[in-house]
Amino acid sequence: MTVTIVGSQLGDEGKGALVDIWGGDSDVVVRYQGGDNAGHTVVHDGTEYKLSLVPSGAVRGKVGVLGNGCVVNPETLFDELDTLREQGLDPDVRIARRAHVILPYHRVIDGIEEEAKSDDDLAAGTTGRGIGPTYEDKAGRRGIRIGDLLDPDVLRERLEYAVPQKRTLAQEAYGLDVATSEHADAFDVDHLFETYRAYGKRLAEESMTVNAGEFLTAKLDAGDELLFEGAQGTSIDIDHGIYPYVTSSNPTAGGAAVGSGVAPTVVGGGEVVGIVKAYLSRVGTGPLPTELDGTDSEEELADFIREKGGEFGTVTGRPRRIGWLDMPMLRHAARANGFTGIAVNHIDVLAGLDEISVGHAYDLDGEELLTMPATTERWGRCDPVLKSFEPWDEVDWSAVAVEGYDAIPDNAQAYLDYISAEVDAPIYAIGVGPGRDETVVLDNPFEQ
Ligand code: IMP
Repeated sequence: MTVTIVGSQLGDEGKGALVDIWGGDSDVVVRYQGGDNAGHTVVHDGTEYKLSLVPSGAVRGKVGVLGNGCVVNPETLFDELDTLREQGLDPDVRIARRAHVILPYHRVIDGIEEEAKSDDDLAAGTTGRGIGPTYEDKAGRRGIRIGDLLDPDVLRERLEYAVPQKRTLAQEAYGLDVATSEHADAFDVDHLFETYRAYGKRLAEESMTVNAGEFLTAKLDAGDELLFEGAQGTSIDIDHGIYPYVTSSNPTAGGAAVGSGVAPTVVGGGEVVGIVKAYLSRVGTGPLPTELDGTDSEEELADFIREKGGEFGTVTGRPRRIGWLDMPMLRHAARANGFTGIAVNHIDVLAGLDEISVGHAYDLDGEELLTMPATTERWGRCDPVLKSFEPWDEVDWSAVAVEGYDAIPDNAQAYLDYISAEVDAPIYAIGVGPGRDETVVLDNPFEQ
């Protein structure tokens, strides 16, 4: 069977902890979208591993697959693999031949386009990893795929077509003097050919490339369990998120099928678990109706939650914006993904506050909305209709992790019951602290 783990908010919901826990019961961990814009820390046998591209299951001896829906920066891939090997691991990672390659010019264009957009408040606050420009080339049918790195003639032909266009774009649209800039190599066909041909050779030598759909379906037929590891979150999905402040892929559960080559009936026949952070955090730009930034006391509260929850970007280190839990956002996620269960993280971070609220609904020009409007302009005009909850005290959360659900303070249980009822999905796990073992697991989706 398959279990798909999906971020139900804006990314950074703490998916890694659950992927770690349930990934232990899987044989293959698959990423189906995104690239090295994700970031997670895996702790295994007391050692910490920082990964942004390699599926976390690779640390635990599982097969890790980067599906065709991913965009792959080979430099990051091999850096991460080399680091894991230096740390004594022997990761087995396979890459879809249909996955697209992030080239240096994608990163350069990501940076200069964001700068240009910032004049009009349109910058998404990207991670600068070249994600958007690579997906643009994929959709524009001028991308370079992992399979192309294995064939020198195809690689050269594709580079000769794409690179002059990119050079013109950088120069004419963004005023970058490519030849004299520090980025000259990023737009040099010969240099790119040599570098990416070498990556292709290494991928071939290490037998890393696969036809992902066939590979994964064969694994399923052999009785293996698959865990799909979503990156980012539903509200920054290119189709279902707060466009244009989104990432350029589909973190939603439908992306697991399209981005891996496993049939939608198979993914849909499995479990889809939404990961929920007990409040909101946001690393990028754009509106945020429940944001805590209006008054001094709200900002103090946001600072407190940010520090306590360690809310600083894993990839970029940027401080994250903080808000109350946004229920219209969660209802939208529950519908778009079809959650069979949820996991709620970070309830410990809210402990000890004097007040706890959630945005139960929105008020848009006097109308009450229970889910997100489809345009970001309308979303930005929404005021939250807040609902208050009785706060809960600080407790020994490590002890709660050992004792289980009944040890969770009653008021926190009431908060969890509310979330579960509103999204109409049972709670499979509750994160009560930053450590992997600080999770109260109620159900295992592989055993449903
Ligand atoms: P990109 O994915 O780098 O193109 O960034 C597009 C938007 O998605 C920006 O607002 C980023 O901050 C956001 N984003 C990308 N990856 C993550 C993530 O892993 N967690 C949270 N936000 C992300």
